[in-house]
Amino acid sequence: MKNFITLLFFFTISSVSGQSLLSPNKHTKVFFSLSPEGKPTYTLNYKGEAVVLKSNLGFELVNAKPLIENFTVLDVQFNTKDETWTPVWGEENSIRNHYNEMLIALEQEATKRKMNIRFRVFDEGVGFRYEFPVQQHMGHFIIAQERTAFAMTGDHVAHWIPGDYDTQEYDYTTSKLSEIESLFDTALTGNASQEQFSKTGVQTALMLKTDSGLYVNIHEAALIDYPAMHLNLDPQTLTFESWLTPDATGNMAYMVTPHHTPWRTIIASKDARDILASRMTYNLNEPCAIEDTSWIKPMKYVGVWWEMITGKSSWSYTNDVNAVKLGKTDFGSTTPNQTHAANNTNVKRYIDFAAQHGFDGVLVEGWNVGWEDWFGHSKDYVFDFVTPYPDFDVKILNSYARGKGVELIMHHETSSSVRNYERQMDKAYQFMKDNGYHAVKSGYVGDIIPRGEHHYSQFIVNHYHYAIQKAAEYEVMVNAHEAVRPTGVARTYPNLIANESARGTEFQAFGGSKPNHTTILPFTRLIGGPMDYTPGVFEMDISKLNPNNNSHVNTTLANQLGLYVVMFSPLQMAADLPEHYEKFMDAFQFIKDVGIDWEKSVYLEAEPGEYITIARKEKSTPNWFVGNSNGYNNRQAVVDFSFLTPGKKYTATIYRDHPKADYKTNPQAYVIETKTVTSKSKLKIETVPAGGFGISVLPKKLE
Ligand code: NOJ
Ligand code: CA
Repeated sequence: MKNFITLLFFFTISSVSGQSLLSPNKHTKVFFSLSPEGKPTYTLNYKGEAVVLKSNLGFELVNAKPLIENFTVLDVQFNTKDETWTPVWGEENSIRNHYNEMLIALEQEATKRKMNIRFRVFDEGVGFRYEFPVQQHMGHFIIAQERTAFAMTGDHVAHWIPGDYDTQEYDYTTSKLSEIESLFDTALTGNASQEQFSKTGVQTALMLKTDSGLYVNIHEAALIDYPAMHLNLDPQTLTFESWLTPDATGNMAYMVTPHHTPWRTIIASKDARDILASRMTYNLNEPCAIEDTSWIKPMKYVGVWWEMITGKSSWSYTNDVNAVKLGKTDFGSTTPNQTHAANNTNVKRYIDFAAQHGFDGVLVEGWNVGWEDWFGHSKDYVFDFVTPYPDFDVKILNSYARGKGVELIMHHETSSSVRNYERQMDKAYQFMKDNGYHAVKSGYVGDIIPRGEHHYSQFIVNHYHYAIQKAAEYEVMVNAHEAVRPTGVARTYPNLIANESARGTEFQAFGGSKPNHTTILPFTRLIGGPMDYTPGVFEMDISKLNPNNNSHVNTTLANQLGLYVVMFSPLQMAADLPEHYEKFMDAFQFIKDVGIDWEKSVYLEAEPGEYITIARKEKSTPNWFVGNSNGYNNRQAVVDFSFLTPGKKYTATIYRDHPKADYKTNPQAYVIETKTVTSKSKLKIETVPAGGFGISVLPKKLE
């Protein structure tokens, strides 16, 4: 480590003095100090403004003295890094990783235990983590609670979802920090199993805005072999404290040296667009661990899915709970369910549609035996992932799809029986390889088995990681639903092609989501990685699909198009039914054209909860696409095309809200118009509440 400077002398000057570290552009500053009691603390400033006030760092341990005070500094080391790396897929084709680093080596005087804190200061924020080196006086230890504080500078506006060890599928609540407690029960509506929490706990990534207009985002990076962190607010001091997800025994994390925590991250800027443009979370993860990544390919897909989610069709082959016989395809005299969607004829219909319109994949759910009795009874042996229902012919359908240049996407609903999934994982992935699949959507609905574990506990976090690594051995891409929220791990394992891990489009068929939901998600859930949000719903009245389902999709059709650009995912779905797209082929053209993997992204307009407008240039074509999602208010967006190559003419096809569009009463009213644009053009585009637009910007053909 050539460029390390060791400052051995520094802390001998005074135990209460500290050390600051600036970002490469000097805008961001971290200050570390020890309190008179030897408590490690830090502060964060952005352009001279406080972002985090003096905050404590440390741990409570099980049956051992806490790692909270009585520390001295043994050593301080500095480093700097400036590298550029190429992601396998992403929002741009190269990412700069530029930071200054400070490692504070601490020792607890009374116990001689060692704990290091590593800070990395980027232009847009800081990441820090605790490291536990191999040492004489601490080998194995158990964390009872992490005590990392984030002392806020005021009563900020927060976009938050309630703390929960098992789901993130909430609508966001926007409120002052001081209002979280009183709004907590309302925020929980519609979800289960929340008794475990304090009523001031929220999940990350948490998006905040101060009275002075500073945007602050708190999350974590590289969550591996550790439980996911929540944040618990002390309403008196407006200080958040880390609050980990317990395991079945109530403990948080089992540690053995050498080990370290994930990075705790804070991004700050006066411009909300910088939060979306930050790649700090990826940069804090390790480089790609997969040598040959040529099999990892972004995909646009359709699926035998929305018809089940809306209740129009069923996953299960029969209605008879007793008919489930794992490993058997003979259902004897049991009458098949007329609405079973994963049947050969229907799947072929989707394959034909995909092939006709240039999609790469077709997801099929409800293809394997077990759906008659998969949920709610904590069943250990629940699915086997290799036995198709009698009306689904794996070999014929895969070769039919391949013959048309399309591939099938596998579905593994684990029903949260993690034990069952791990038992069968090799077999399941081998089955995929044997049958021509190379992407799987996995799911973790219901209570986790081993019983008592949670979706975000250390043990289960390790499972998700194991699944990604195992999948990589079989050249399988993973899109995990209900898994822990991503923390940039896809830098290391880019076969983690997407996650759900938040409230996706499915909730539009479960009663609806808030109209501004997708103006918040890119600031929260997507900070850690792409989301399989499954946009593209054109029929907003769900009762037309299923008379017993009165849900309404709370957006306009033009908004659904904008989401293809706003909600980045290299695995991007067109969620609606072929027959609905066939009614609006002119608007569907945007979904057919839009890119899914990008050379460059330009964040044009952004305000969390209100609007987002993004322009992106597709990799390996000269085409640009612009997307907008709008919140609760009518708004005029201004699209500045200065991102285009100067001197070139482009045809912009604009798919926008009709002035009379209304997400509740007239959501399918849109206007399509074409304009010639250059890098000097600026277009004003009106959007209605929960509206939006998509624009394809293609180089003009020579006349
Ligand atoms: C929940 C997932 O989010 C959804 O996409 C899937 O269809 C169901 N689980 C069934 O696996
Ligand atoms: Ca889900």
